[in-house]
Amino acid sequence: MNFLIVYFSYTGNNRLLAEELSERLDCDSCPVVEKKSRTDITNLLDMVFRREPKLEPLALSPANYDHIVFVAPLWNAHLANPMSALIKRERASIHDYSFITFSGYHRPGQPEQVGKQLRELTGKAPEALTELAVTDLLPERDRKNVRIVSNFLASPADLNRYESQIDDFLQQINPAVPWRQVPFEDRPGIRS
Ligand SMILES: Cc1cc2nc3c(=O)[nH]c(=O)nc-3n(C[C@H](O)[C@H](O)[C@H](O)COP(=O)(O)O)c2cc1C
Repeated sequence: MNFLIVYFSYTGNNRLLAEELSERLDCDSCPVVEKKSRTDITNLLDMVFRREPKLEPLALSPANYDHIVFVAPLWNAHLANPMSALIKRERASIHDYSFITFSGYHRPGQPEQVGKQLRELTGKAPEALTELAVTDLLPERDRKNVRIVSNFLASPADLNRYESQIDDFLQQINPAVPWRQVPFEDRPGIRS
């Protein structure tokens, strides 16, 4: 089975996760690239008006892969708009797929809402859906501070906190994937 990681990331957390998954699955990856550069104002307008940003063509075609792993942040309990626009556009070329997010919080009902959105976009359920939340890395006092959570930039070593969740996700989509051998901090930087 061949996998493709398709990722979107605004501040880098989901790119970091995508790079880790691509290495673990030993598979290709490609970013979702927007035609216009994004700002915090764009984020706000996209969220409020549910806008669909214009995208460049993907560098690799999902139709050539058995399973697409989508990786993206959540905005307002939905897929970040560039990722929902991409999935909508590529719907016909997606065979099996899964979704994993490096999101901000564990909001009640959020995973269910995201699962529903994915089913509506693709017409089928994801093989796996996993949410890693930034708040799990923060002290209790900062977890309700939206500014701290949304501006938090994870380091490769931070991924250790999610090791079992990442392993579970990978096992669900490919039981043959090897377990991780080396802690993240011992590796050369994967987030240049
Ligand atoms: C405009 C905006 C809205 C957000 N809304 C949510 C949300 O509804 N739920 C959530 O869990 N995280 C939310 N977040 C937090 C991001 O998902 C989180 O910071 C993520 O790690 C950013 O990923 P990135 O660095 O790949 O862009 C929001 C962040 C921004 C900027």
